[in-house]
Amino acid sequence: EKGGWSSFMAKEITENPDAVANTVRGRVVDGLVNVPELSELGDDVLRGINRIILIACGTASYAGMVGSYAIEAWARIPVEVQLSHEFRYRDPVITPETLVVSISQSGETMDTLMAVKFAREAGARTLSICNTQGSTIPRESDAVVYTHAGPEVAVASTKAFVAQITALYLVGLHLGRVRSTLADAELRRLARELQELPAKVTEVLKTGPAVAQLAKWMSDSQAVLFLGRNVGYPIALEGALKLKELAYIHAEGFAAGELKHGPIALIDHGQPVFVVVPSPRGSALIHSKVVSNIQEIRARGARVIVIAELGDASVLPYADEVITIPLADPMFEPILAVIPLQIFAMELADAKGLDVDQPRNLAKSVTVE
Ligand code: M6R
Repeated sequence: EKGGWSSFMAKEITENPDAVANTVRGRVVDGLVNVPELSELGDDVLRGINRIILIACGTASYAGMVGSYAIEAWARIPVEVQLSHEFRYRDPVITPETLVVSISQSGETMDTLMAVKFAREAGARTLSICNTQGSTIPRESDAVVYTHAGPEVAVASTKAFVAQITALYLVGLHLGRVRSTLADAELRRLARELQELPAKVTEVLKTGPAVAQLAKWMSDSQAVLFLGRNVGYPIALEGALKLKELAYIHAEGFAAGELKHGPIALIDHGQPVFVVVPSPRGSALIHSKVVSNIQEIRARGARVIVIAELGDASVLPYADEVITIPLADPMFEPILAVIPLQIFAMELADAKGLDVDQPRNLAKSVTVE
């Protein structure tokens, strides 16, 4: 039940810290990530994998994109993300050394289910990341890593998304350990940081009132753009999707590096643009490139709202609004940066008097192809 909340979505956003904590719980043993469900596939099999394809739809595919950066960096396996309905019909190259990982909150998304069956028949190993115990997709997969976000009722996915990303981090760190691609100290540091994330998510939730105010001011916007780079890119896509589905506003997410290849033509006076700024502690070069992007769009009149880590003063001269997130390993930033965007979309929809739990034309799980 909704309890005292105005909507299921409002309640579920506040449950983000638990979604991360409960997904990690029991999967860090003696300081190292150990996901027993993955061991079921066999350590030899995990060591032999030479390609990972993440398949999903919508928000789950953006979780997959975040996961692709992490798994590739930590486990040194080529990882790609494909939309389930594209994967299924493109005649993909699959071998027994291919691991196809499906990501689905409901476990019933027909496009993803068909893609999993197809992958299995083509000889791939299949792993499901799923939030719903006993649903169809896990039953059709060789192994399942459940996310423990708890039931998600609002059509727009929030806590299940952060739980999916969390599960993908766990997969990446488990593989990094089994395949010895990460040093022991690094495995331990990342596991520790993962356990510290829920408290940081709780911290970000405190931006709620300021973000709600911003959403009120922006409720007559015709279009909103989102920019991100590296692991911030999928977050830009997710911020845009949330706004489309909840507030019925045209919204688009771009990789910041693409700006000069076309989208910058959209920038006009007053155009709101959210920018997810990568941590300067990750790559100083990437950080400086995104700061340059901010200067470029500001010079063309954009209204810039940045999401940046605490203490990043470099963005202040060019930002109209700054939303700060706590420091974390740069790979973990998506989980923090997405929270204000979830709140923004919900509050803007609310300011427009729309039903945030049940947007028009959408169903919680899409059980037709
Ligand atoms: O249940 P699933 O995770 O398989 O659902 C996938 C998408 O349909 C879902 O994430 C959709 O994009 C959400 N409405 C986004 O908020």
